[in-house]
Amino acid sequence: MILTPRNVLTSTPMEPFATKVAILAQKLAEILAEKLGHKSSFFQESCLPSTCYLRLNRYPPCPIPSDIYGLMPHTDSDFLTILHQDQVGGLQLVKDGQWIAVKPNPEALVINIGDLFQAWSNDCYKSVKHRAVTHPTKERFSAAYFLCPSYETVIESCSMPSVYRKFSFREYRQKVQEDVQLHGYKVGLSRFLV
Ligand code: OGA
Ligand code: NI
Repeated sequence: MILTPRNVLTSTPMEPFATKVAILAQKLAEILAEKLGHKSSFFQESCLPSTCYLRLNRYPPCPIPSDIYGLMPHTDSDFLTILHQDQVGGLQLVKDGQWIAVKPNPEALVINIGDLFQAWSNDCYKSVKHRAVTHPTKERFSAAYFLCPSYETVIESCSMPSVYRKFSFREYRQKVQEDVQLHGYKVGLSRFLV
C-alpha cells in the first residue's frame, strides 16, 4: 500500500487518537485556566485544528545511549502537550534539579505544560524541562499532541504585574529559531521578561 499523508492518518490508529487528545487538550486548558479564576474561551478561539499538531516520534535503538539523546533537553513551545509513550520508556523530566524517568503506563497519558501556558499563567504553571533517552536494543515510539495557537495570537499574562511582556506566537517561534541557530540551544521565555 502506498502511504499518502491522508491514509497514513486514516489507516492507522492515529486519527482516533488525534481526535480524542484534541478534545482533551482543550478541556485541560480550560480547567487549568479556571483554576486561576479565568473562565476563558481564549484557547478555543486561538488553538484551532489547523494550528495544533500531532507528532509521531521514532527512536531507533542506540548502542551508546548514555552519549546520545533521543531528544535533547527542552521545554515545549506550546500551551500544553499530551504525550503517549510506549512500554520501552525513555522520557525523563527535571524534578528538584534531578533527571527522573517517567515510567511508561499504558493506562496513562503524560501532560506537559508548555512555555505559552507558563507565560499566560504568569509563572503559576511551569513548563517542565524534559528529554528522551534512547534504549540500547529497542526501538521506541511516542506520539505527542501540541496545543498551539495561530502565529498571530498574542500571549498576554492573565494576571498583573506581568512577569513577561506580551508577545505573539510568531515572535516566540522566531526567537527560538534564532537562538538555536546562534547559540545551539533554545533560551526560551527568559527572552521575554519585562
Ligand atoms: C516532544 C517530546 C518526548 C518523548 O516530542 O516534544 O518531548 O518521549 N517527546 O518522545
Ligand atoms: Ni517535548
